[in-house]
Amino acid sequence: MMDKKTAPVGVFDSGVGGLTVAREISRQLPDENIVYFGDTARVPYGSKSQNTIIRFSEQIIRFLKTKEVKAIVIACNTASALALDAVKDEFDIPILGVVIPGARAAVEATKNRKVGVVGTEATVQSGMYTKVIQGMNPEITVIEKACPLFVPLVEEGFKEHQVTEEVIEYYLESMRSTDIDAMILGCTHYPLLRSKIRAYMGDKIQIVNPAYETAMDLKCLLEENDMANDGTEGQHSNYSFYVSDAAEKFRKFANTVMPFDVPITNVVNIEGY
Ligand code: DGL
Repeated sequence: MMDKKTAPVGVFDSGVGGLTVAREISRQLPDENIVYFGDTARVPYGSKSQNTIIRFSEQIIRFLKTKEVKAIVIACNTASALALDAVKDEFDIPILGVVIPGARAAVEATKNRKVGVVGTEATVQSGMYTKVIQGMNPEITVIEKACPLFVPLVEEGFKEHQVTEEVIEYYLESMRSTDIDAMILGCTHYPLLRSKIRAYMGDKIQIVNPAYETAMDLKCLLEENDMANDGTEGQHSNYSFYVSDAAEKFRKFANTVMPFDVPITNVVNIEGY
């Protein structure tokens, strides 16, 4: 039988972006083993319909279960917003998303009860961040804005390029002219643009990265269920990476995000799950 403590945590995303969440888990829970799946063949999710995102998420969860994971983190904001409710009752395993932890962090951060959210088209259209934030505090005003070009800019290595500054200004000008005092980076890729977004938005606005709170929630969940890996088995921090396509491109990108050398990345035929 699977040992609940040493079993890995499954983390998945539409591609490379969820590595920002895996990185945060590795910082806060260094003893946990991780199986990461990036759906590189079908990225982006941010322009797809809810039914498709649910179907993709179900397939990935079925795959991760074959790796005997003890819990699953949906690192993708789009899948968290559109698929978490559907999958969490369907599978007999704890599943966490990033929207609730990110929303809670923003509710705690705002003083003037005005919060901005940036994310993919699908996340923004779902209105899920607004729903969850206002469920926690109905007096908070939420302004959401889709910034679809941020994802390819990060993926193509344009993080430091001037064109990125122009795109940030293009998308965030209207957000900056409001009086929000907290803004959620509601997409896995956006924390990789954090310093440029921070420079443009100014330091009066608290920038919230849901990855941080998600790792904290995962810690609580594992402890409450007596599933936390305390490292006594001597088997800690074993990471494996799976993708649905372009393994070498993924591995190279992952090496720029993770604080250690990413080992061989395996390709999975995810449509078969
Ligand atoms: N991982 C997605 C998210 O956090 C961004 C990339 C995509 O559109 O698939 O929303």
